[in-house]
Amino acid sequence: MKATAIARPNLALVKYWGKLNQELNLPLNNNIGITQEGLETKTTVEFLPELKEDEIEIDRKVLDKEKAKKMVKHLDRIRKLANFSTRAKVISENSFPGSAGLASSASGFAALSYAGVKAAGLELTKKELSILARKGSGSACRSIFGGFVEWVSGRTDGGSYSEQIAPPEQMDIKLLVCLVPGEKKVSSTEGHKIADTSPLLKCRLSSTKENLTKIRTGILEKDFSTLGKYSERDTITMHAVMMSSSPPLFYWSPKTLEIIKKVIELRESGTECYFSIDAGPKVHILCEEKNLNEINREIKKSGINTIISSPGEGVELTNKHLF
Ligand code: DP6
Repeated sequence: MKATAIARPNLALVKYWGKLNQELNLPLNNNIGITQEGLETKTTVEFLPELKEDEIEIDRKVLDKEKAKKMVKHLDRIRKLANFSTRAKVISENSFPGSAGLASSASGFAALSYAGVKAAGLELTKKELSILARKGSGSACRSIFGGFVEWVSGRTDGGSYSEQIAPPEQMDIKLLVCLVPGEKKVSSTEGHKIADTSPLLKCRLSSTKENLTKIRTGILEKDFSTLGKYSERDTITMHAVMMSSSPPLFYWSPKTLEIIKKVIELRESGTECYFSIDAGPKVHILCEEKNLNEINREIKKSGINTIISSPGEGVELTNKHLF
């Protein structure tokens, strides 16, 4: 059976940096994300008895053995659940640039999990799907659900999964993706491994508790200012950990800093907005619809292309297959 799934990346408001368990992808702290409409990964999977190896193609490029490793390992997890060894053909397409801090691994592993499970003839609950997706890439477990999502860190495989806090329509919030050029040189997976070399990690982890409480309340009470303020603070402490780890990780480029400054200036002049940055040079700007056009115009003046996104749906199936 052939199955196709669509998943969106998600932007973390409270982020995680550092894992309790690298193999199972258990994060050091609970974290909260917004699943993003306007960006998507579409993946078709079919298990074919005639194949000797898994055949994987992303954005029209066939992956070599090394690049396919993580996805083959994930297909192995699905094969184990289904109790068969048949190899698969996988074709995946992103509507946005990969490996630049736009969380293509989150939408990628969410889509691969759902399409793979369906193609294997399995029925999993969203919680079980979230646990499976997490093992492919941690943040993928948030992309299973739509809207505002919390990943409960847990201490065991079965205890670490995401839950929806509120649906996409809960709040008027826009995410302006600023496509600062440049690729990240150190993957999140590698970065997580050295988080504990930073003397600031402990301090950050104690601040995430407050950030989580404020942001959860901000979402439930539709309080954009609280959500924005604590989410920006969370970004800053995460990057402080990255920069002070050994070796130090600087994911920002000069343009990243230029946008940070622009956001602060806009805010000081009365246009409310906040920045959020993951492991890469790209910046997301959080704002309300009424300010979106003004902010977008300002960012474009710096020569930066943007994508407008808003809270979107969780992973879903489609019958529009890619092969
Ligand atoms: C900075 O979940 O992508 O975006 O599990 O190794 O694939 P792997 O890491 P991943 O790390 C995400 C890091 C982050 C913060 C976040 O999304 O919470």
